[in-house]
Amino acid sequence: MSREVRMTPSILNSDLANLQSEILRIADVSDFIHLDIMDDIFVPNFTFDFDTAAQIIADCPIPVDAHLMVANADEIGPRYADVGCESVTVHAEATRDIAGTLRQIRAAGSRAGLAVKPDTEIDEYLDFANWVDMFLIMTVEPGFGGQKFMIDMIPKIKRAKKIIGSRPIWLQVDGGISPETIEMAAAAGADTFVAGSVVFKAADPAAMVRGLRSLAKSVPQ
Ligand code: DX5
Ligand code: ZN
Repeated sequence: MSREVRMTPSILNSDLANLQSEILRIADVSDFIHLDIMDDIFVPNFTFDFDTAAQIIADCPIPVDAHLMVANADEIGPRYADVGCESVTVHAEATRDIAGTLRQIRAAGSRAGLAVKPDTEIDEYLDFANWVDMFLIMTVEPGFGGQKFMIDMIPKIKRAKKIIGSRPIWLQVDGGISPETIEMAAAAGADTFVAGSVVFKAADPAAMVRGLRSLAKSVPQ
């Protein structure tokens, strides 16, 4: 049986002035669109205000995986679930009541994700396994696309995978995913892959997504 793989391309470094057509270039070959929300507080960059993001989510032809890099995730997380994201991920470092926030996201009908930055250990947050549908291990410092994959995150991915065990929790990696790094991340246990700049820099973004997916799938279980 080949391994389970989900591709969730990030539109952060796409041509945002033509976002609809950029999304259409990859929609058929992607499981979700990964939407990075940055507030210039939790990370030193800003992407979309809530109303703009809600419009993108409403217009998106495939499910949206929102990655909230915002300071007050307790308040903002459930709002993204309310406007129809299939998956909403909050950062452990930005959420006061993690279980409560994840519960509210689920109650609004979304999958609930919990993310950790490179300097944050995952172990204590694995206690939230009952409330979470996906863990996101950042493989770059959040804030910008186009950074180098942090190879020293591999042990963290392995540990998370081991503790998840047979539970149906997805394990996502985000940052520096490319044809050179995706197999390593998959071998460590990741099953859900964000890729941004490598996809939108490619002459054929859909072919890049397909290629990344088959590389990840080719890794033995
Ligand atoms: C970075 C974002 C990522 C970003 C990934 O903080 O969370 O989703 O778009 O971009 P690449 O794939 O270029 O590292
Ligand atoms: Zn992201």
